[in-house]
Amino acid sequence: MKNSEIGAFEREQIGSHWDNHGYYQDAESPAWLDGFWGPRSRFARLFDFIADLSSVLELACGHGRHAAQIVDRAVAITVSDINESNIAFCRQRFASRGNVSYHVGNGHDFAGVADASMTAVFSYDAMVHFEFEDVLSYIVDLKRILRPGGQALLHYSNYTGNPGGHYRDNPHSRNFGSETVFWHMARRAGLQVLESETFNWGGNPQEMGFGIDALTLLRRP
Ligand SMILES: C[S@@+](CC[C@H](N)C(=O)[O-])C[C@H]1O[C@@H](n2cnc3c(N)ncnc32)[C@H](O)[C@@H]1O
Repeated sequence: MKNSEIGAFEREQIGSHWDNHGYYQDAESPAWLDGFWGPRSRFARLFDFIADLSSVLELACGHGRHAAQIVDRAVAITVSDINESNIAFCRQRFASRGNVSYHVGNGHDFAGVADASMTAVFSYDAMVHFEFEDVLSYIVDLKRILRPGGQALLHYSNYTGNPGGHYRDNPHSRNFGSETVFWHMARRAGLQVLESETFNWGGNPQEMGFGIDALTLLRRP
């Protein structure tokens, strides 16, 4: 069995859950965006550590609400998603922008993205739902697409409950994931862990468990 076949059924199911979802409209609200881009946001703090926005890729872009925040700052930005409908939406949204490129991904790695082509990669509010084997596979392929010195800021699940279960049964639909295994894989793949934190995603920590999300800044040496 090839690695890409592990969790293939679940990957496809997760992808189709987020095809034409009501989430995208809600997610554009100032309150939701503030959690990522507001002055007190941990995401914004770590994003500011990214040194070079010459060539940026956003993984799992949805309708492009995050890309829209940085399209003026990035020299070039590629928006990537497993769902063609999301990329079609982004094509319309950014039609007047000459610096945006589009990529429909396979949901498992960055196939189709050129070697050493990116100075920065980021993904918010998406990998938390991915199959963990896909998260690990994306990490390994990051090393290939980042230029030396390139950085990646990834938001993923640190929820270690319900191994082998269904992500929709877990708090905030967090799939199984682990910050420590993520770090291990990143280091084995030849990436440096520059900064990392775990945090709770809303709700009552007693019910939800502490630190079910993680945000990690990686660098290709
Ligand atoms: C909750 S939405 C978040 C979208 C966007 N990041 C945002 O914050 O608005 C999850 C996104 O992940 C994408 N997705 C799901 N599985 C994926 C996979 N295996 N690889 C890449 N994208 C995936 C969905 O199509 C969707 O755009």
